[in-house]
Amino acid sequence: MKSFYIETYGCQMNVHDSEKISGILGQLGYETAATETNADLILINTCSVREKAAQKVFTRLGQLKTLKNGKPGMIIGVCGCLAQQEKDLFFKGRPYVDLVFGPKNIAELPSLLQQLQQERRQLLALSGPRQEPTFEVQTVTRESSTRAYITIMEGCDKFCTFCVVPFLRGREISRHPHSIMEEARRLVDEGFVEICLLGQNVNSYRYEGFDFADLLCSLNEIPGFRRIRYTSPHPSDMNAKVMDLYGSLDKLCRNVHLPLQAGSNTVLHRMKRDYTREIYLSKVEYLKRVCPEIAISTDIIVGFSGESELDFQQTLDIVKQVGYSSIFSFKYSQRPFTAALKMEDDVPEEVKSRRLTELQEFQKQSQLALNSRFIGTIQEVLVESPAKKGDGQFSGRTNCNRIVNFQANEEKIGHFLTVHIDRATANSLFGTLSL
Ligand code: SAH
Ligand code: SF4
Ligand code: F3S
Repeated sequence: MKSFYIETYGCQMNVHDSEKISGILGQLGYETAATETNADLILINTCSVREKAAQKVFTRLGQLKTLKNGKPGMIIGVCGCLAQQEKDLFFKGRPYVDLVFGPKNIAELPSLLQQLQQERRQLLALSGPRQEPTFEVQTVTRESSTRAYITIMEGCDKFCTFCVVPFLRGREISRHPHSIMEEARRLVDEGFVEICLLGQNVNSYRYEGFDFADLLCSLNEIPGFRRIRYTSPHPSDMNAKVMDLYGSLDKLCRNVHLPLQAGSNTVLHRMKRDYTREIYLSKVEYLKRVCPEIAISTDIIVGFSGESELDFQQTLDIVKQVGYSSIFSFKYSQRPFTAALKMEDDVPEEVKSRRLTELQEFQKQSQLALNSRFIGTIQEVLVESPAKKGDGQFSGRTNCNRIVNFQANEEKIGHFLTVHIDRATANSLFGTLSL
């Protein structure tokens, strides 16, 4: 029996693509290898959103080259966004890479592998920006036993000036609602209690007249699910119809990821983010009014072209006003194809680092303060998996997406239990199961 090992970089879209790839390979009779050393097929599912993410992949490939030297029959494949970006350049100077395929070519994997066996030459499979993505894959090997991802749309039409994603994932294409509902019902039958809807720009979902809010309402009607999440929405598409659902849909989890990117209107304009700080803050206010306990998380870029100290202070100011439950923050790096390539990357590296540290330090304290408010409360938690630290600890999430660790056992996984919160850190809560 042949075995495979898949390594994933990047966002949840990539994580789910790897689940689809694993499902396909499982059907072809491959089994999962525990480590890359004894795998017959190694796939690297890549990301190119920041320079660092791309660099990691190249470094990793260098390591795999050494591994393959000792095992010449091994197949090395590169897929995902960096594959789509580099195309056949990936093969240049890398004779040990056998296969390169893009995010929309996942379904072709069986025939590609067969071809490789017959021809033993480097193979490339990439699609154009308007090609339909692989929405429906029969078998998906899911990483979690409680939460299931469902792709509802692919691609992005926003073209923020810093972002390479539209050039790699192509134009927005929404999946047929029937196909989404069918997958969701199947997931209930398989025992999943939480679904997470995925798309690069998830809330711009629209299939003919049927929009994102309509989809959330339809999914809410499916019996069996307890929680619905989604990622990543764009603030501009966060309209009142969607926001009002936080006051009416019982399964819609009370957390939203609302990527801010920057707090200054001049920077937002240069980023082509299509909203101002005032519009962003008014949406936050609206959400908090509809659902006072809502947890809001965000993405922030520091040091974008032309970002002054004052601009950065405006980002910090929004961070202080909103009180985010978590922040993913990054130093700006120039990416291929993007409009911002024409702007000078003029914020010095040490200034980017200082701003990032300042933002992260503030956020850490703020998160600690926010999380500490839960000490002494009782929270409903979906038990998800053994905690990373082990020693009988298990980990789950509250409705608002806060991580809670507590003593439990394997049998509790998939159950909704009440936990008394005893302690808090900046990143998680610790508690005791209350009977
Ligand atoms: N669709 C999502 C984001 C996808 S990319 C949205 O619209 O917000 C994930 C995050 O990577 C972005 O939110 C942004 O914060 C960061 N990012 C994207 N391009 C970047 C770049 N060139 N440099 C640094 N961070 C970047
Ligand atoms: Fe990139 Fe902007 Fe599209 Fe998000 S909305 S994927 S940041 S172009
Ligand atoms: Fe990276 Fe592609 Fe996701 S570039 S962030 S893996 S859409």
